[in-house]
Amino acid sequence: MVKFKGVIFDLDGVLCHTDEYHYLAWQQLAQQEGIYFDRLINQRLLGISRSESLEIVLERAGRTYTQAEKIRLAERKNELYRQYLLRMTPADLTTGAEKVLQTLEAAGVKLAVGSSSRNARFILDKLGISSKFQVIIDGNVLQHSKPDKEVFCKALAALHLAADQCLVVEDAVSGIQAAVSAGIKTAGIGKVIEQTAVDYTLHAISDLLPVVLGTGSQRHAFNNLG
Ligand code: BG6
Ligand code: MG
Repeated sequence: MVKFKGVIFDLDGVLCHTDEYHYLAWQQLAQQEGIYFDRLINQRLLGISRSESLEIVLERAGRTYTQAEKIRLAERKNELYRQYLLRMTPADLTTGAEKVLQTLEAAGVKLAVGSSSRNARFILDKLGISSKFQVIIDGNVLQHSKPDKEVFCKALAALHLAADQCLVVEDAVSGIQAAVSAGIKTAGIGKVIEQTAVDYTLHAISDLLPVVLGTGSQRHAFNNLG
């Protein structure tokens, strides 16, 4: 019997490396505006909405921006970001992710995406994996982005599963906070495992299989909490 009946994947930084494209687009925008921006500041943008990210980028601005200017800046950032997305193909799927999705699907595990991005469906289409997910909750249907639990509560409701039947896979502190607040167990991948406590530590996406399927020993299902 599987250990989790459903898995809710974050997208950017988990299923693909669009987190890098977000960084490059914000960096270009900041440079055009003469605003200091670096990877440390970028860490604070992971998982949160475009408009909230812009507010953080503008903390270093030498002047204040009107609401209309902010809307235009957010649009410009998205245009820069979409230039990278246009070039994406199924080869941009995180290494090992295709096998993970196939294996979980074959085991009858329900799959969902829970992302703050308004570009999520476009990216999933470019990756050729949209049809793998029963449920896709993205930035277009959210009132509040991570760390609010809304994205994961909506995913649970659409999957018809309870919080303790699911696992969230995340690369961002805000995403882990959102999952914890929704009462869902967490698997962290990437830098987040050094930044906050997670239930399972994934060194590669393939580490997810023994965790979800309940195969292998607990030695493979690392627990960060002690
Ligand atoms: C999240 C990213 O998935 O989506 C954030 O981690 C990003 O960095 C957010 O700001 C919103 O993305 P988009 O594509 O709607 O600008
Ligand atoms: Mg992410």
